[in-house]
Amino acid sequence: MKLEIIILAAGQGSRMNSSLPKVLHTLAGRPLLEHVVRTALGLHPAAVHVVVGHGGEQVQQALSAYTIHWVVQERQLGTGHAVLQALPAVAPDSVVLVLYGDVPLTEPATLERLVARAQQAPALLTAILDDPRGYGRILRSAEGALLGVVEDRDATASQRDITEINTGVMAAPAQDFMRYLPQVRNDNQQGEYYLPDVLSLAVAEGRVVATSRAGSELEILGVNDREQLNRLEREYQRRQARELMRQGVSIADAARLDIRGTLTCAQDVSIDVNVVIEGEVRLGRRVTVGPNCVLRDVVVGDGATIHAMSHVQETEIGAACTVGPYARLRPGTVLSEGARIGNFVETKNARIGADSKVNHLSYIGDCDMGPGVNIGAGTITCNYDGVNKHRTTIGQGVFVGSNSTLVAPLEIADRGFVAAGSTITRAVENSELAVSRARQRNIQGWQRPGKQGGD
Ligand code: UD1
Ligand code: CA
Repeated sequence: MKLEIIILAAGQGSRMNSSLPKVLHTLAGRPLLEHVVRTALGLHPAAVHVVVGHGGEQVQQALSAYTIHWVVQERQLGTGHAVLQALPAVAPDSVVLVLYGDVPLTEPATLERLVARAQQAPALLTAILDDPRGYGRILRSAEGALLGVVEDRDATASQRDITEINTGVMAAPAQDFMRYLPQVRNDNQQGEYYLPDVLSLAVAEGRVVATSRAGSELEILGVNDREQLNRLEREYQRRQARELMRQGVSIADAARLDIRGTLTCAQDVSIDVNVVIEGEVRLGRRVTVGPNCVLRDVVVGDGATIHAMSHVQETEIGAACTVGPYARLRPGTVLSEGARIGNFVETKNARIGADSKVNHLSYIGDCDMGPGVNIGAGTITCNYDGVNKHRTTIGQGVFVGSNSTLVAPLEIADRGFVAAGSTITRAVENSELAVSRARQRNIQGWQRPGKQGGD
């Protein structure tokens, strides 16, 4: 049968103590709800319905990149009520999987197993917890058949001792939800319409409710406050680091690497402490990343080295390049093979040719640089006239002396030579020397000023 997925995300999340809707708080750089939506889409459902309430518009905007059918639950009258709001849009001949927007790390295989068991009757994902406090407890008959779920607040003392809990994840033929949900009542401690009540209604009609167990506790942990969010974040990061180490990456300290996006590494990559990876980053063979680097949407070729304290964004670094320490590579930077960017160098929209060097204290923006160029310390491309940006083109084998100012638009042809301290405003032709600075004058017999008056 066709699968449709309903994700509940209307709750306020008051324990986050935040103006941001709970499901928009991020885990590994992505909103909690986005994790759930991505997992859901991975199951190839016919439709994904997300029920929103608090901050609904903000939530929809944050996930506008995904194909989602949004359902608004005006008042949060309970999980059962929430699913009921989505049902009119669900095909009656489908199987429905219900997920929570604040339970981000459920494994696709676990969900596939549950859905497989829910083709004819409801099925529930349960877990055994050492500390089941706060969760709905699973009630079973002496023979072990599921009877229903009792919420923590409605449970008797002996029911509270039960350690098997409702994870909240449930699947059933759409027809079952359509049949049982309108019968659910709200005569409980919280005055809410509880979704798990559909299970006892099914059992009352002699149906058998299947259960399956989650693989690990991490899969079913929900986020209610920032401490739980942090616990999930650390666990998630540990898991990513472990997986990278399995793939042949050396990590100085798994607790001091944060990947907020995707990191793909070839063999023998080495990553030092306090590195933050954002967006999509790909590192080639034997790449080393020094301590305290931030890499966002970066591709790095084989054998390149990024030294400590470098900040690199939307950049391509060729094979065998070296970057940093203290380099800032901004969007649109492309380093060809063997290029070197040293300390306190900023680049933006710049192509640096093979084996070219910008080693110290420079700004290279809106620039096309050929191979074998040497840029002296303190060189600045003046790319902005206050209104427009202009490009600087530098041919191969060019030498730019220290503390030069290159006023764009400007072209320095192959093997051009700019004397140190020059301000260059006109094109430099092939192999020319350009000098643009006050001529030095030496004055012989010059008297230093003496001290005036005084004692
Ligand atoms: C729920 C379950 C409980 C289970 C636990 C697992 C019910 C009645 N209880 O309890 O058995 O052990 O999850 O974490 O289902 N939501 C809405 N609209 C509403 C109410 C809730 O969209 O009107 C959403 C919330 O945003 C949240 C999810 O449903 O994503 C769960 O709601 P919550 O209030 O956190 O339920 P729990 O009390 O944790
Ligand atoms: Ca909850």
